[in-house]
Amino acid sequence: MASGERGIFTPEDAQSEVDLQKRPPRTIEWRPNPTQCIELIIPPTVYPPREDTDLIANRLIQLGPGKGRKFLEIGCGSGALSILASSLGWDVHACDINPFAVAATRGNMEKNLQAGTIKEGGIGPDGFPFEEKFDLIIWNLPYIPAHEVNELLGPMEEAGLIDTDTQGLQSRFLSLVGKNNLLATNGRMLLLGRTGSIGACENFAIRSWDILEFDDGESLTVFCLWKPWENAENVFVQSTGSTNDDLFHKSGVGTHISTALQTSGRGRRDRKWNSIEKCYAGSWIVAEDTEVNPGLLQLSGGLAVIKSIQSDRLKLKWPNDILIDERKLCGVLVEGKSSQDSTKVVLGIGINLQASNKVIDGKEISTLDEIEKLDFKLLDRRLNSELSSLIEERDDIPPVNFDSIRAEILTHMKSLGRPRYCELVYENFGLNERGELVLGHNVIDDGEDVSWV
Ligand code: BTN
Repeated sequence: MASGERGIFTPEDAQSEVDLQKRPPRTIEWRPNPTQCIELIIPPTVYPPREDTDLIANRLIQLGPGKGRKFLEIGCGSGALSILASSLGWDVHACDINPFAVAATRGNMEKNLQAGTIKEGGIGPDGFPFEEKFDLIIWNLPYIPAHEVNELLGPMEEAGLIDTDTQGLQSRFLSLVGKNNLLATNGRMLLLGRTGSIGACENFAIRSWDILEFDDGESLTVFCLWKPWENAENVFVQSTGSTNDDLFHKSGVGTHISTALQTSGRGRRDRKWNSIEKCYAGSWIVAEDTEVNPGLLQLSGGLAVIKSIQSDRLKLKWPNDILIDERKLCGVLVEGKSSQDSTKVVLGIGINLQASNKVIDGKEISTLDEIEKLDFKLLDRRLNSELSSLIEERDDIPPVNFDSIRAEILTHMKSLGRPRYCELVYENFGLNERGELVLGHNVIDDGEDVSWV
């Protein structure tokens, strides 16, 4: 069948579903680790454990004992992962829209001497079947868009693999988790989807954990999502001197303050950073009493802005300026201070949102409304979650990956052109581990020594 020729579930599919039910169920032995064998009865229309299941299973095992914490699996299929979770000590809850999957999971749970609350339902319009909060939510997302499906092997089983949701299942799911408050304090979600297919949203930070690559080029990732810096203070103030200064009087990594008016905003080299008619100023405590790499933090600030706005018109001028058509839109300032025996590092972001006069100190600036009118609060929440996705550290989430941050930054830098330094234009350039610009044998740490052509 060519894609798009007919709907996903037709009367013929319904008939084929009925025919398929006449086939006997299969019994398989699933081994999530060398010492554990889980026997599963798989009815003909239920999703059996595959490589993607193994990928999540590995991660679950590495998370360690569940210690009675609440676990939810969406789309439990044969129950493989829920049974594994129960055997690891999680208090398991699971659901599936396929009643045969619900029956299979219940039966397989019992057969493997595990227990859980299994209900029929999902994230669709019929209402979500659970109301409690969960410490861990997992979902092996249907990751194949409907238009990419050429063959339907078994309608219900395949429907579990296909994303037919126009809003995007992942976005519907994340809104549900937010709206129904399904994630407990310090809770996490593990979503399996196509590599690169899921990004941060304003409510949740995200980082890749494990990747599985297939011979045909398909690549799947286990993504971990969490609430950005959820135990840190996060405030908006109408006006203040400088949000960076304010944070030097506070403590707690992730503490965040934003404002629309700074009366003594600071830029690099102790320059003034002016608040224009409509502007965004926000700062975060990004480190306390730990060794940090200010260069890479600065780059992460710029990358968080680019990811929050998502427009090809934004250009990153190393190390910390974001431009539209060569006019400055945004600046990032990382500052550190030591007092008595503690040190603190603060990262501040200033973005021009809207102005009638776009000449400041003789220089033409750009404003975000040239690209889109983004509500202040939404921009702030996106920045908070993108920055957390890049640099938040927690024992129970994937580690910060500065190599991938550097690689992403380099791609964005290339869109600005080639660097000119001491009269020479360089075709190739790189960033070292400190985030400094490497041009041949020269290592440059100040953006003002370089122009871009
Ligand atoms: C620059 O390009 O020179 C950096 C500008 C950084 C401005 C921001 S606005 C929020 C934070 N508070 C400040 O006083 N400065 C930074």
